[in-house]
Parts: sequence; C-alpha cells; structure tokens
Amino acid sequence: MLLPEINKERLPRHIAIIMDGNGRWAKQRGKIRVFGHEQGARSVREITENCAELGIKHLTLYAFSTENWKRPKLEVQTLMKLLISSLRKEINTLQDNNIRLSAIGNLDALPAKVKNELLDVIERTGANNQMTLTLALSYGSREEIINMAKAVSAKVKNNIISSDNIDEYVINQHLYTRDLPDVDLLIRTSGEQRISNFLLWQIAYAELYFTDVLWPDFSKTDLYQAIADYQSRERRFGKTSEQLT
Ligand code: FPP
Repeated sequence: MLLPEINKERLPRHIAIIMDGNGRWAKQRGKIRVFGHEQGARSVREITENCAELGIKHLTLYAFSTENWKRPKLEVQTLMKLLISSLRKEINTLQDNNIRLSAIGNLDALPAKVKNELLDVIERTGANNQMTLTLALSYGSREEIINMAKAVSAKVKNNIISSDNIDEYVINQHLYTRDLPDVDLLIRTSGEQRISNFLLWQIAYAELYFTDVLWPDFSKTDLYQAIADYQSRERRFGKTSEQLT
C-alpha cells in the first residue's frame, strides 16, 4: 500500500500514543500475552525511527500506567524485563537516529534495575537533538496533577510564589512534562476510545485519532495515515474559521 501523502511543513510537533492491544494480538494467535508485548516492543522501535526520520520533534509513548501495577505479577515482571532488554538493545537505534530518551512518571516506583538502565540511557543520549522520545512509565495523569498541586501550594505557603500569579505557565512548570510542548496529536490503537489517565492537562487542544489496528500491527502506513488525518483537520483553538485565515 502506498504511504499517505504528508505535508512536511505542517507536521505535529508532539505526537503521543496510547499503545493498546498487545494482549488481544497475542490471543488472536493463540499465544500468551507476553508474546504480544514483545511484538509491541518491535512496533515501538519502528514507529520511533519513522517519527524521527519524518522530522517529528517529540514522541511520547504510554508504556506503563500507574494502574498497570494491578496486572498479574508475572505480566508486570515480564514487562519490566522487556523494558530492560529493549533499553539495552535499542541504545544504538537511539544514537544512530540522534534521538534523546526521556521519561515521565513515578520512576521511583520502578524496580531499581529498570530505573538504573533507564537513567543510564537517558544520560547517554542526553546530547541528541533530532527527536525526544519520552516513555511514560508508572505514569498517571491524576497523580501528576496531585503532585503539581502539592508542589505549587508548598511554594505559595513559603512565599516563593503568590497565588495571584498561578497561571498556565506555573502549572506546566510543575508537571513531569515541563520540558515538552502541548500534545498536537494523540493516537490510541486497538479500537478503544478512552484517554485512560494519560496527559489530561497536556491534550487540552490535541487532535484525537483512534484506530482499530492493534499496537503490534501498527505500521509506518498507519502512522502516516494518522498524520495525514491530523493535517486534514482545522485546529481552531477556540477561534472561528474566519479568524484563522
Ligand atoms: C497495552 O496492551 C500495552 C501495554 C500495557 C504495555 C506497552 C508495552 C509495550 C508496547 C512493550 C514494551 C515497551 C517499550 C517502551 C519497549 P494491552 O496489554 O493492554 O492489550 P489488551 O488491551 O489487548 O489486553
């Protein structure tokens, strides 16, 4: 199939993806869920490379939510192992494509081995500047917002900032995503049409794109399809069509 036409002048600056459907993909093939996650990790590599090649500046992937800790112990352990092996394996992919790795979420909740591997790759790719790949790990948007509220109120209490000066900028500066621009395009695979506690503040004006394709099957063509769809929409940010022209 031909790749959908994309206007390189109007790329989304920040794409965020809820990678869903690994378990169902495995089940359809009579395999255990973990097999689906392994294939999902391949899609992570492919889509990351495709985004960097295209010129996307920020890609954020929902890899593990605060709620995912409730999954069966074996699945959580395997996902953690997969993270470690993927980080080890893909450091070269990141370096070759000039991609900086970053992470958001409660990283202290991760097993020490995962956290150390993650911090090591973050440090080693720190000078890369083609694209930032941010992994959301042990991430929950409500938890992020609660932490922000605590940090901001502590600063108000200690007279570091006045409550009158709390604005969008101040809020942004106290979120995990303080170094990222707002999300332009949010993609969710596997047919579910939910946000599932992902970047609630940051997607205020994002275009939402839902596809039935399961994450392990999500290909370069699907990515281009999503971006072409994004480019066909008019982003008004609350204004009228006439005001935009
Ligand atoms: C959702 O599928 C996927 C996850 C909870 C984990 C995402 C992890 C990966 C793609 C693999 C490793 C990641 C990296 C960054 C290397 P699901 O299990 O909820 O699928 P289901 O809804 O069909 O059960």
